[in-house]
Formats: sequence, C-alpha cells, structure tokens
Amino acid sequence: MPITTISADFVAWFRSVAPYINAFRGKTFVIAFGGEVVADGKFVELTHDFNLLAALGIRLVLVHGARPQIERHLAKNNLGDTYHQGIRMTDAESMQCVKEAVGRVRVEIEALLSMGLANSPMANADIRVAGGNFITAQPIGIINGVDLMHTGSVRKVDVAALNDRMDFGEVVLLSPLGYSPTGEVFNVTLEDIATATAIALDADKLVFLMDTDGVQDKKGKLLKELTIAGAQAVLSGKRKLPDDVSLYLPCAIRACEAGVARTHLISRHTDGAVLQELFSDEGIGTMVVESTLNTLRAATIEDVGGILHLLRPLEAEGILVRRNRELLEREIARFVVLEHDHRIVGCAALYPFPDEAAAELACLAVDAQCRNRGYGQVILDHMTSLAKTQGLKKLFVLTTRTAHWFIERGFSEADVSALPAQKKSLYNYQRKSKVFVRKI
Ligand code: ARG
Repeated sequence: MPITTISADFVAWFRSVAPYINAFRGKTFVIAFGGEVVADGKFVELTHDFNLLAALGIRLVLVHGARPQIERHLAKNNLGDTYHQGIRMTDAESMQCVKEAVGRVRVEIEALLSMGLANSPMANADIRVAGGNFITAQPIGIINGVDLMHTGSVRKVDVAALNDRMDFGEVVLLSPLGYSPTGEVFNVTLEDIATATAIALDADKLVFLMDTDGVQDKKGKLLKELTIAGAQAVLSGKRKLPDDVSLYLPCAIRACEAGVARTHLISRHTDGAVLQELFSDEGIGTMVVESTLNTLRAATIEDVGGILHLLRPLEAEGILVRRNRELLEREIARFVVLEHDHRIVGCAALYPFPDEAAAELACLAVDAQCRNRGYGQVILDHMTSLAKTQGLKKLFVLTTRTAHWFIERGFSEADVSALPAQKKSLYNYQRKSKVFVRKI
C-alpha cells in the first residue's frame, strides 16, 4: 500500500488489534476445516490467514477433512458410500480410497503452506508443517449388528509430541486418520480429531469453518454468542438445523465442557472470516463459551479510567454533562459497570433521594461499538431493581438527546418542579435538559 493511501482508519484499526495480538501470543488454537475448502480453491486465502496467525506467535494445529475427495475417489472406483446411522462404514477397499484421497489433500495443503512468493502475503513466510502419528484411534466397532470396520474414533492424542513440534515453531497439520497399536489405520472424522486434540492440548480456542455463517436463531438471526446451556437449547429444539451446525455444535459443547474456553463456528465462504472473528470484539460467527462474557457489577476505583474512556465521547457531543476524574472518583460507589470480555462497555449511576422516595439514573452510557446489543436495557433493568431494593418508588432522568429511548421504556416527561428539592436547586437551566420520570 503506498504511504499516501494509508488512512487514519488504517492506523486506528491496527491499534485496535494490539490487545488481541498480545492476548494470543503463545496461545494454542486448533482450527478445523473440511475438504470442501481445498476443493473449492478457497484455500489460498485461508493459508495467508494461517500464516499471519503463526507469525503472531500463535501455536497452531490445523485439522483438515477430505469428505468430498473421498466420495469422488470412491465413486471413481465404483465403490458405494455406505452410511450406518450417519457414520460412514469403511471396509478394506474403501480404506484404500480414504488413504489416497486424504494423502492428496494433505499434499495440496502442505504445498500451499510452503508458498513464499514475493508481493504476496506469504512473502518471507517460512512455515514448517509437522505431521505424524499423533492420533491413536480405535474402531467404533459394531453398531446394531453392523461392523463399521475401519471407521474409528480418537482414543489418545500424543500431547507431548504435538507440543514438541509447536515449541519448535512448527504448524501441525492433522489429517482425519488415526493409527492403532496393532498397526491399523482408521478413518476418523475431522471434528472428532479437532475436538479431542483441542481438549487434550487444553487449547485456548477451537475453530470450525463451516457452510453457514454460524448458528442462527429461529428467525435466521446470527447468534453471536452461545453459552453451553444456550447451545444445548438450540440442539434440543424442534427445528431442523443445517448439517454443519448439527455436526459442529455438539463438538463445541464437548470442548467447552472440557475446558476449551472458546469455540468459534464461522463461515468458510467469507474471505478473512478467521481474522474477522479473532481480531474484533464482535466477531463474525458464533462463539460458544461456558457462561456469558457479560458481567454487571458495582464499580470500583480501578474502573475510573475505563468509565472516563466511555464517557468522554458522549461528553464531547454534549450528550452527557462533563465529569472530571476527581468527581468520578468521589462518586464511584454510585456507579455500576457492564463488562464484556473484561472490557468496560457500559455504565450508569444511581443517585437516591430518600426523602422523596426517588432516584436519579445518571450517566447511562454504552460504548459506541456495542450499540444495538440491548446493553442499555440491561443496565436500566439493573438500576431499576437496585432502586426498588432501596425502597424507592420513582426513577427520573435528565436528558437532552435521548428522550425517545426513555419514552419507549415507560418514562414520561415531567416538569422541572417535579424533581426532588435538592436536585431542583442544582438544575442547570442553560442545558435545558428534559425531565423524564417512571414509577418503579
Ligand atoms: N475476537 C474475540 C476472540 O477471539 C472475540 C470474538 C467474538 N466472537 C463472537 N462471535 N461473538 O475471542
């Protein structure tokens, strides 16, 4: 990019990524993608993104699938695709096809990961790809009288060997195969390999690239964040889920329950989806976590900096009255903060007037990047119940610009004279704020 075209946006964007770069260095991510990604010719861009992650010091385990390639190979050899209860049956002949197809896909991936062309994002890249007998598998066995033969499941992951490779700065590429102590090879699903590996490595993230944008609700709206309970509810609901969701969401739950902090389900069709998911707060797909990342709590003196950061833009726009640091420090006990992913994204303060059984809700603010997520409502509900527990009967706000938001939530306009006496004497007539009141 020529220097002259570097915009302020670029600089702001680059700076915004710094917290993630710091947080991810030395962390272990397991990223799984189906053979479709390679078959579609989309793998080049994905390689560039993996290269970037590796360059940032992330310990990477890539897990590839080969389903379409195996199917093609079986068809070419006039071998049928036999499934029993959704699981592929692999006899000795089909196992031959599986080995060939998986081998080919693996070679193609290794070739792309070896690129280092000048004038490409891979310039100066020097990815070393590691492979080996890291996965021990066992036969799935006989289900309802049907022997699945060479179809296996993960029995053990060689964690020490994987960590050795990553300690050397190598990127591990796992194929959907496992070996047994008797020298047999088993056909294993990529999701089983990825999930078992993420759990065994105690990985920080497990990522599945899939056909849909993530998990959607009944109305087709993307669910950006799901707790284990939320994910279970999606699976036990009546609606028909897309195949990939039925395949990967249970894996996300399994990983999460076993201590993998975050599993991300993202689209394989969106260019740069991995980067968008990992290096933004909002992400682009669905993230499955043990419990919600939002916490609403009483503010402490350590939060003053974060609150100021949140309030400054609103003060500059004249939406909130300016509060200096000293005032904020003095009144911090009146504040609550809403944290998302350990970052303060909202706040509000409650000033009770017990003589009038009323309270002022002040300083209600939500980070501009986090609008339309319902955070304002969460804070308002919390402050309402806080006021109720103090025996107060009325909540009022003074606002110049956000009247509608409050009206939609049951507040109605009142005269300045309706304010508690003490507040009335402080009313700033120049600001011409409107007063809104709601019974609680
Ligand atoms: N970038 C952050 C991470 O990787 C947050 C991603 C949030 N994604 C989402 N779908 N809600 O942990």
